[in-house]
Amino acid sequence: MTDNIYPVFDRIYDRKVKQEILRQSAKVIWFTGLSGSGKTTLASNLEKELFFRRFFCQVLDGDNIRVGINNNLGFSAVDRLENIRRIAEVSKLLINTGMITICSFISPTDEIRELAKSIIGEDDFIEIFLNPPLEVCEDRDPKGLYKKARAGIIKDFTGISSPFEAPKHPDLEIDTSVTPIKDSVDQIFNIIIDRITL
Ligand code: ADX
Repeated sequence: MTDNIYPVFDRIYDRKVKQEILRQSAKVIWFTGLSGSGKTTLASNLEKELFFRRFFCQVLDGDNIRVGINNNLGFSAVDRLENIRRIAEVSKLLINTGMITICSFISPTDEIRELAKSIIGEDDFIEIFLNPPLEVCEDRDPKGLYKKARAGIIKDFTGISSPFEAPKHPDLEIDTSVTPIKDSVDQIFNIIIDRITL
């Protein structure tokens, strides 16, 4: 499929130059967890904290990506893998611009997260697992989707009728049912600060 394709990576200013202009080291901060586990909330609060400290970043979030670049994908295992493959490729492009990239996707299986890590590169991939109990996510049900999943209106719903495999070695794990937002952001900031500083 890559016959007759001639990439020009060597003719484009490399990431190092861009990171120096931005005075930061680009990384992907990857949130994984069930729907309702707090990914979007923490991604946006982390972005706010990083901007306050003059870091330049971009959030990529499940529902936003699924109405845009990935609007032709559903929630089968194959489509979820393709969803994350494209997001990982986009994240890779963004970190090559020097951008700290905050990704917020359920990314439910080891295979899916391994794919993301292999595309982005292990050194640039920081995995944060939000692991409140399923009952808490279901109770929060911010979009009313658990109710629909229980009623059988939504098929293949993660945690109900589609699997979620807990990551085995995340860089950080937070139970958002007992950790206040501010404390979670502080914990994340503390584990990333050395890695995003040039
Ligand atoms: S992933 O599994 O492919 O990583 P992604 O993070 O992009 O999922 O999208 C999840 C969002 O899609 C959820 O926050 C929810 O709003 C919505 N959604 C709609 N249908 C489903 C479903 N069957 N399973 C999970 N999330 C769903």
